[in-house]
Amino acid sequence: MPTLTPRRALALAATAGVVLAVGACSSTASEETASGDAVQLIDEGTLTLCTNPPYEPFEYEEDGEIVGLDIAIVGEVAADLDAELATLVTPFEGIQSGQDLESGNCDIVASGITITDEREEKMDFSDPYFDADQGLLVPAGSGLDSAEALEGLKVGVQAATTGETWATDEGLSTVQFEDLGLQVEALRSGQIDAAINDIAVLGPFVDDSLEIGTTFTTGEQYGLGVKTGNTALLDAVNATLERIREDGTYDDLYTQYIGTAPTED
Ligand code: ARG
Repeated sequence: MPTLTPRRALALAATAGVVLAVGACSSTASEETASGDAVQLIDEGTLTLCTNPPYEPFEYEEDGEIVGLDIAIVGEVAADLDAELATLVTPFEGIQSGQDLESGNCDIVASGITITDEREEKMDFSDPYFDADQGLLVPAGSGLDSAEALEGLKVGVQAATTGETWATDEGLSTVQFEDLGLQVEALRSGQIDAAINDIAVLGPFVDDSLEIGTTFTTGEQYGLGVKTGNTALLDAVNATLERIREDGTYDDLYTQYIGTAPTED
């Protein structure tokens, strides 16, 4: 049985019930949540996460490791489950479509994923943990600062994202990229005129040659996804989110990765 550390005690309090760890002596590494269902992991004792970097500050490589706010939050979930965290890099398409979860590639997806009605049909989302809007990254001095200004220009989008949907709905001519890195590279090389992606990830690319043209307020919210019907894991994820909101961990992680303290809402 794990010892009752202060953090663990808080996790217990947060779920307002008994979180029973079926320790190493048992045949399964599962854990019981407040609802009584055992959390089953694809790989016993390991919480496997699918994510799509580069997407700083949510998931990006540092010293050969994938780190970021998403990874840190899922790390808290793993800790509460007494499991190791294994991070698997996969294309965003399979993450957002529920495919990675359905095919058993991972237990959980965390990739700056906006909760949408369409995606709700393909996976179960946790409570929201981050607010997001779309942003426009443009060559410095280009003066591109609105959707109207983009008419007739080539706008780079990341495949299968809400940014792509937004741009398509606006009637813009889009060019698709597999990930944010390739999208920004194309902007630097002049292959596209502007790039649309979540505003929070564009900041790290601002320099002498690139700037933020504008923010498109879309009012999105990020959620962590689990396979449809995996209530035991979903309950555990939400209990961890509640625990880290209450014990200050969320604020610390937010400040560490976003650079500012979260605003009250
Ligand atoms: N929030 C957007 C969406 O859900 C973009 C997320 C892209 N995430 C990533 N890690 N590449 O569609």
